Amino acid sequence: PFLKRTKKVLLMGRCGAGKSSMRSIIFHNNVAKKTRDLEPTILWDNKTNVQFLGNLHLNLWDCGGQDDSFNDYLTTYRNLIFKDVHVLIYVFDAISAELDKDIHYYQSCLESILMHSPNAIVFCLMHKMDLIQEDRRDMMFEKQKLELQVRSEPIQIQAFQTSIWDETLYAAWAKIIHCLIPNMNELQASLDTFCSICGADEIVLFEKTTFLVIANSASIQHPDAHRFEKISSIIKQFNLCTRKEGYSKQMEIKGSNFTAFFDSLTKNTSVLLIISDTGITSAATQVNIAAARRHFE
Ligand code: GTP
Repeated sequence: PFLKRTKKVLLMGRCGAGKSSMRSIIFHNNVAKKTRDLEPTILWDNKTNVQFLGNLHLNLWDCGGQDDSFNDYLTTYRNLIFKDVHVLIYVFDAISAELDKDIHYYQSCLESILMHSPNAIVFCLMHKMDLIQEDRRDMMFEKQKLELQVRSEPIQIQAFQTSIWDETLYAAWAKIIHCLIPNMNELQASLDTFCSICGADEIVLFEKTTFLVIANSASIQHPDAHRFEKISSIIKQFNLCTRKEGYSKQMEIKGSNFTAFFDSLTKNTSVLLIISDTGITSAATQVNIAAARRHFE
C-alpha cells in the first residue's frame, strides 16, 4: 500500500547551511546561482514528494535551521519530526563560524533519532566546500569526518563533501537515494543482462525527476570514476538551457569511436547506452530499448 512505500527523509542543519539550495537544485530544477534568492525556511517544508521506480515515494522534510525552529523540533514537535524517519541528512556549513553550536544541535537531533527512529540511516554533508581552497579540501574533510563519527556514536554515519557549484552534490545524493531503493540486486542483475544483450560498453539508469544515477552496468573499464555525477549535472544543465518541458525524451550522439543513446525507459527512469561496436545498428539498439521497457516498468 501507498503508505508502506513512502520513505521519510529529514534534511536538517543550521540556517544558511544550504539545505533549501540543494533541495531546489536536485528536486526542483533550480540553478545554483538562483539559490541566492531563496528565503529562509521557517519551521519545515515537507511538500517535496518524489516517485521512484514504480511505487516508491520519497517524502523530503526540509527543516529550517533557525535556533527557534530547532528548539521547537527538539521539544514540541519532537515526535512528529523524528518518528518514522528512514534517512537523516545533516548539512554542515564547511566555513561555519559556530562549529561547536552546529555540533551541539546535531547531537541533539541524533538523540531524538535514536529514540524515535533507531534504524534511520544518517548522512552528514560537509557543504559549501567550494569555499575551501582546493588543495586543503580532502584533508579538512577527513578530519571533520573523523570528528563527526566520534560525536555520532553509537550511530555509524556516512559523510560526503558537497557543493552546489560542482558535481559533488549529485555524487552524494546518488549515494543517498541508493539506500532507499529496494531490490537493488535484482535491478542490477536486470541491467547487467540488458547491457550484454545490447552489446553496450556501458548502460546507466537515471531517475527522471532528479537525474540521479540509480545503477549502472559496464562491460569495459572506465578511467573516470566521477563520470556519472558529471553526466547528471550536464544533462540537467542541458535541459535547463534548452528550456524543454521535462527531460529530453530521446537523443543519439555519434562520437568518433562510439554512439551514445539517451532515452526514456520507464515512467520514472531514463537510460544512457554507450556502444562502440560499429556492427550494432541504431535500429537494433532502439528495438532493444523498446523491448526492455516492459521488463523494467
Ligand atoms: P534555512 O532555510 O535558513 O535553514 O537555510 P538553508 O540551510 O536552507 O540555506 P539556503 O539553502 O537558503 O542557503 C543559504 C545561502 O548559501 C544561499 O545564499 C546559497 O546560495 C548559499 N549556498 C548554498 N549552497 C552553497 C554552496 O555549495 N556553496 C556556496 N558557496 N554557497 C552555497
